[in-house]
Amino acid sequence: MIDRRPLIAGNWKMFKTCSEAVETAKQLAHLVGIDQEVDVMIAPPFTALEKVSDAIKESHLSLGAQNLFWESEGAYTGEISPSMLISAGCEYVIIGHSERRQYFGESDETVNRKIRAAVNHDLKPILCVGESEKDRESNDTFSVLDKQMKIGLKGFSLDDLKLLIIAYEPVWAIGTGKTATVDQAQEVHGFLRSTLDKSYGNKLAKSIRILYGGSVKPNNISELMAMADVDGALVGGASLDPETFSNIVHFLK
Ligand code: PGA
Repeated sequence: MIDRRPLIAGNWKMFKTCSEAVETAKQLAHLVGIDQEVDVMIAPPFTALEKVSDAIKESHLSLGAQNLFWESEGAYTGEISPSMLISAGCEYVIIGHSERRQYFGESDETVNRKIRAAVNHDLKPILCVGESEKDRESNDTFSVLDKQMKIGLKGFSLDDLKLLIIAYEPVWAIGTGKTATVDQAQEVHGFLRSTLDKSYGNKLAKSIRILYGGSVKPNNISELMAMADVDGALVGGASLDPETFSNIVHFLK
């Protein structure tokens, strides 16, 4: 049995100034404690990364970014490179979140380039995939996910993907209070693992962590985590409050 260590990740989106982010991170570090059986990551806005990194140095928390650009440097106004994220203390980077796809023109092709950049810099990419409500209603869920996975991961070797994490986030469940049922989540997670199995073999498919995201709260995390292929959560709204998020982290207790 390959042991997949659970990962609970908080995506703070465009919330919190530097001082608010540092305060939240400190409180969270205290509430989470140090002896955890789960990995915990927080992704504050770019402007707060370095300060939060300092605030969580001695804690169990790891740092992630919400996005990156694939070039190393250059005239790309407003963009942030992988080395910049590393210099700010990041270990993870969220790539292809549905809000970036929806509002900022991200495509499966740009997602692919961003994952390549993360892999080349040993940043752990969290590839977000998920179907819209319309896709689900028209029974296109699996074809949409298959395309996001195939193009997003095109051209990668087995070795490239050893740090990869997938987040399944049904777009209709993000910020809406509608969570996928545990059976819906398990069905898709099983499907995603089987697509990895077909392309990269059983060993990698079994070792990759697949997170669920979309209205995860303290009251639904345990049942989600009980599903065989759910290895953690990517949490938006409920990660902004340290107490609420630490209750999600402590789902085992
Ligand atoms: P939510 O967001 O938990 O607020 O639904 C999840 C996400 O967008 O990652």
